[in-house]
Amino acid sequence: MTIRTHLCGELTRAQVGQTVSLNGWVQRRRDHGSVIFIDLRDRSGIAQIVFNADTNPKAHEQAHALRNEYVMAVTGTVSLRPDGSANPNLATGEVEVLAQAFEILNDARTPPFMIEDDADVTEALRLKYRYLDLRRPTMQRLLRLRHEVTQRVRSFLNSQGFLEIETPMLTKSTPEGARDYLVPSRVNPGNFYALPQSPQLFKQILMVAGVDRYYQIARCFRDEDLRFDRQPEFTQIDLELSFVDREQVMSLVERMISLIFQETAGVQLATPFPRMTYQEAIGRYGSDKPDLRFEMPLHDLSGFAAQTEFKVFRETVAKGGIVKTLVVKDGAAIPRSRIDALGELAKSWGAKGLAWVKITPDRQLDSVIAKFLVAGRLLGALPQVGPGDLLLCVADKPTVVHDVLGRLRLHLGEELNLIAHSRWCPLWVVDFPLLEYDQDSGRYVTIHHPFTAPFDEDVGLLDAEPLRVRAKAYDLVLNGNELGGGSVRIHRREVQTKVFDLLGIGKDEAAAKFGFLLEALEYGAPPHGGIAFGLDRLVMLLGGADSIRDVIAFPKTQKAQCPMTDAPSPVDPAQLNELRIKLDKIE
Ligand code: AMO
Ligand code: AMP
Repeated sequence: MTIRTHLCGELTRAQVGQTVSLNGWVQRRRDHGSVIFIDLRDRSGIAQIVFNADTNPKAHEQAHALRNEYVMAVTGTVSLRPDGSANPNLATGEVEVLAQAFEILNDARTPPFMIEDDADVTEALRLKYRYLDLRRPTMQRLLRLRHEVTQRVRSFLNSQGFLEIETPMLTKSTPEGARDYLVPSRVNPGNFYALPQSPQLFKQILMVAGVDRYYQIARCFRDEDLRFDRQPEFTQIDLELSFVDREQVMSLVERMISLIFQETAGVQLATPFPRMTYQEAIGRYGSDKPDLRFEMPLHDLSGFAAQTEFKVFRETVAKGGIVKTLVVKDGAAIPRSRIDALGELAKSWGAKGLAWVKITPDRQLDSVIAKFLVAGRLLGALPQVGPGDLLLCVADKPTVVHDVLGRLRLHLGEELNLIAHSRWCPLWVVDFPLLEYDQDSGRYVTIHHPFTAPFDEDVGLLDAEPLRVRAKAYDLVLNGNELGGGSVRIHRREVQTKVFDLLGIGKDEAAAKFGFLLEALEYGAPPHGGIAFGLDRLVMLLGGADSIRDVIAFPKTQKAQCPMTDAPSPVDPAQLNELRIKLDKIE
């Protein structure tokens, strides 16, 4: 095989006159009779190869055999393209290689889709033939970007005194809120490992072990409903530090994230990142991960609603609910059919209805419920609202109102083109409550995980008013995506036991599940804290991808399947026997 001297994408005027050898795949063959052009592709780009019947009849004749995706080696002379035939869209567009000799290194079946960025192809097919999909320039760019981000994370954290340490994949369940993936143990029949939902417990144990600063580019496994930003296995940039408070963790992480943006995307993020309390994020944007690339906040109308004749509003407030509204500037022009469609959306998200009110040019109300409302009072309650605006209101329990209006806000942001797509809006969300009450189970549950420390000044409230206890937790949000989350941890056994108690995790259960952590806390655990970032989400945002599936080399489908390998798949009964597992009849 002819060993290459250059990569295809490297050729410029500088090599004109030189003899070069290239290796790569045939992107395209164009046959112009006495001249055949081949676009030759490798990871770096495309070079045009010319086979000319007049100057090299033998190579020209043989070039007829070349087809898309054939693998070849070619040797030739770099030459400037003739006047008028340069291709400004191609990095190598000024030059071409006049082929002297070539070799077919492998042939290829006709690929099921074109190897180019705008190929019209379903995701199922892309994932089945992932090796072809990954040949496309965008996918190559994203693979490289991911590599660059990972390398910068490593070099930054190394420079800050962190040690990279691996933690087990075959382990015990970590409570991050999802279902576990279980792995049966052959030598311990009836017993299972859980794949880690995160390295949380191990990184805390490493702090007890005196490691001081730990990081890991860690694979995590969670069996949960999948979405564009959720995969069953994903990667965290996971860190933990001893002897720190949350300010130190947050400022270190800001430096890391801004460095990554600067060096991989040329984007300057202003530091310190803005902060918002959880209460404000929920109250003002209906979300704990607000997208601040546009405003459109939620306005509270509960005071006004309590006084109206509109029964739904009045009774909701009387029962302890709230009424909030989005204000769509100049939205009165939106036709009724579209508003009704928004109402249906709101219902699909759990609202009982979506009340709308248009403000007329003479500051009157146009709405099916106008007769129940007093225009002056409504406008008095909303000083920023004027003629031509549209109000979209939901009355319900606060959780429903915030969730529905938060989603509607994002929906309108897209639909009305309000989002400044070129902006980067990082945001720390802080002062989360430690606990919330889960109606379904009738229990307190943690908003982060059970190892998150309460505010020192709130510890006294743990008994009497647990829902008022704030957590030393922080989430980093970017453009409406939760990029990372972490906290200062509980490092004292008695506080940890108390939190388990509140969560309804009794002594025996705590000992069985987390006994090793509780015990470690008794052997001089230092104060510590940390954070984990979704590496996939970070690269998705940096690379402008629509889904984390595009930044993972071999992702799973919505149904957690891999169309290329066909995983998961049935196993040999002998394997199950060895594991002492019997399957129920599967329909
Ligand atoms: P958390 O559960 O918030 O925290 O996870 C941290 C970050 O990981 C990313 N992430 C995911 N990415 C893709 N697919 C998923 N299924 C998925 N789940 C989470 C998110 C998220 O912000 N141990 C704690 C961290 C800590 O306290 O230090 C933890 O795992 O970007
Ligand atoms: P109704 O009186 O049920 O016909 O409702 C009148 C209007 O109020 C309709 O536009 C409904 O969508 C809306 N509506 C009903 N329930 C609610 C609610 N809980 N919050 C907001 N709007 C509602």
